[in-house]
Amino acid sequence: MRDVNAPVVRARNLTKRYGPFLAVDHIDFDIRPGECFGLLGPNGAGKSTTIKMLHCFFPPSEGELSLFGLPAETHAREIKARMGVCGQEPSLDPDLSVLQNLVVFARYFNNTGREARRRAEQLLAFISLSHKKNAPIVSLSGGMKRRLQIARALLSDPQLVILDEPTTGLDPQSRHQVWDRISHLKMEGKTILLTTHYMDEAETLCDRLLIMDHGKILEEGTPPELIARHVGGWVIEIVHPTLEVRAWLSERGLAFEETSARAVLHPPDAEALFHALRQRFPGCSCSLRRATLEDVFLKLTGRELRE
Ligand SMILES: Nc1ncnc2c1ncn2[C@@H]1O[C@H](COP(=O)(O)OP(=O)(O)O)[C@@H](O)[C@H]1O
Ligand SMILES: [Mg+2]
Repeated sequence: MRDVNAPVVRARNLTKRYGPFLAVDHIDFDIRPGECFGLLGPNGAGKSTTIKMLHCFFPPSEGELSLFGLPAETHAREIKARMGVCGQEPSLDPDLSVLQNLVVFARYFNNTGREARRRAEQLLAFISLSHKKNAPIVSLSGGMKRRLQIARALLSDPQLVILDEPTTGLDPQSRHQVWDRISHLKMEGKTILLTTHYMDEAETLCDRLLIMDHGKILEEGTPPELIARHVGGWVIEIVHPTLEVRAWLSERGLAFEETSARAVLHPPDAEALFHALRQRFPGCSCSLRRATLEDVFLKLTGRELRE
């Protein structure tokens, strides 16, 4: 009998080289059925490359990869039939209308004629684009295009939905609408793999996360686990800390991250320390706030700019 808890994706030693360059470096992970799994990392971390191996766009250079219990090496066709992919790059056909973009694509799944149209219309309603069905692609906003691309990934009613940066560059309203649709897919029981560099998005949507950098896995866990493990519950930020403030912190053995304008601390007893700091330096501009996944991400991947 099929094990219903068997991972949807199983990767061991998964590796991809572009020539001599190691883009994905011997990583292991599982994606479980029904979870929303987040792949996070700065630009160039290897997220899209990982995803491309998962949807059998190219084979791994090394390692084992299976999806739905099937080895990717030998069962690419069956695997692709059970997943929907929304890539990072725009890929809609500008010569076709909104509806036609879906109907034409549906033919890849042997969905033709009336059935293809019915499914396309149903998905347009799902992404709130029914009113645009005859519009040309150029007339759509960025958010609408992205939603259409997501709808296209859902045409085959896939078990696994892969979304590579589905909300990058969208305005907040569009972003929230995409989140809402992703939550809906989760409720339907779909397994979702999502990449993003919005930490609030990962915190809101993902059950489990993998943080990657330079092709390697830095961390794995649920958002609350990662926050508790790396930054504790609270963060203190001090704007332009003076030499006296720095000395005071150093005397207490408190490590802090420094940017040009601020010192950021994740101390164990943050509340008491915050009050002590305020008392000792009444003029000091500092704040106490809840730790977030963004704090974890910056702590693990650093603050230098990428690409
Ligand atoms: N087709 C390619 N040929 C050569 N290098 C590539 C190719 N695609 C990606 N890379 C490089 O591999 C690294 C990982 O890229 P990518 O997987 O796209 O990262 P991410 O999606 O996390 O931003 C980057 O340094 C990128 O420049
Ligand atoms: Mg990418």
